[in-house]
Amino acid sequence: MATTVRRQTATRYSFEQFTAIRRYQPTLSFSPDGREIDQIHALVNVVMPCLAARFTMPLKIWSAACATGDEPITIAMALDRAGWFNRIPIEIHASDMSPTAINFAERGVYKERSFRRLPAELRDRYFRSVSEAWEIDSNIRRRITWHRANLTNREEVGPLAHAHVIFCRNVFIYFSEQTIRSVLQTFAECMSSPGYLFVGAAESLLRITTRFQLQQIEGAFVYVKE
Ligand SMILES: C[S@@+](CC[C@H](N)C(=O)[O-])C[C@H]1O[C@@H](n2cnc3c(N)ncnc32)[C@H](O)[C@@H]1O
Repeated sequence: MATTVRRQTATRYSFEQFTAIRRYQPTLSFSPDGREIDQIHALVNVVMPCLAARFTMPLKIWSAACATGDEPITIAMALDRAGWFNRIPIEIHASDMSPTAINFAERGVYKERSFRRLPAELRDRYFRSVSEAWEIDSNIRRRITWHRANLTNREEVGPLAHAHVIFCRNVFIYFSEQTIRSVLQTFAECMSSPGYLFVGAAESLLRITTRFQLQQIEGAFVYVKE
């Protein structure tokens, strides 16, 4: 059953701001209905304050199946804009099973056309111009540790899944129910309590696991391991 979690801080970003950030790479942009924007709001405004109040160790956020890195970079920029990196130690890990995708993400260099929708102010703040392309700022890049990991391989996933927050979006849609069940089992065994799991809008886990409770945090649905 969905429950509502009260927002705990006043820090907030406009829909337009994050839509613009997420769309710096058009092939991986947020869907137009804004549900993913709500996930970023939920992370920055509610989940981070909850976790920061409970844990003293570095908070670990894992972007699983991150493709070419748009999601973890967006997360890092959002946390930076909200001042979270100045408040508590945070580790961001990002992985994909595709070495090509991870190599691209690790370089962090994007062509000019990728910035069609990003306001110049944000581009200039987080990227620097390098020979007809833009490179992600080293202060954001150094926040992210990149890995190659197959979600169906427990040995590869286990260490990464020891996280407080996992974004695992738009990849379960490719998996059988049995595979999803197995991946979720690993997540549930490894994640902190509480631990927060964000999945894609089309990916309901309610029939598949009882280890996570679905909560509504502001406008976003989040699976919470209590
Ligand atoms: C549709 S993209 C989703 C990217 C990102 N999570 C998002 O929502 O924008 C799916 C990604 O899942 C990755 N992927 C597919 N099967 C995987 C697996 N078994 N383990 C890890 N990554 C996988 C693909 O390489 C691809 O980058």
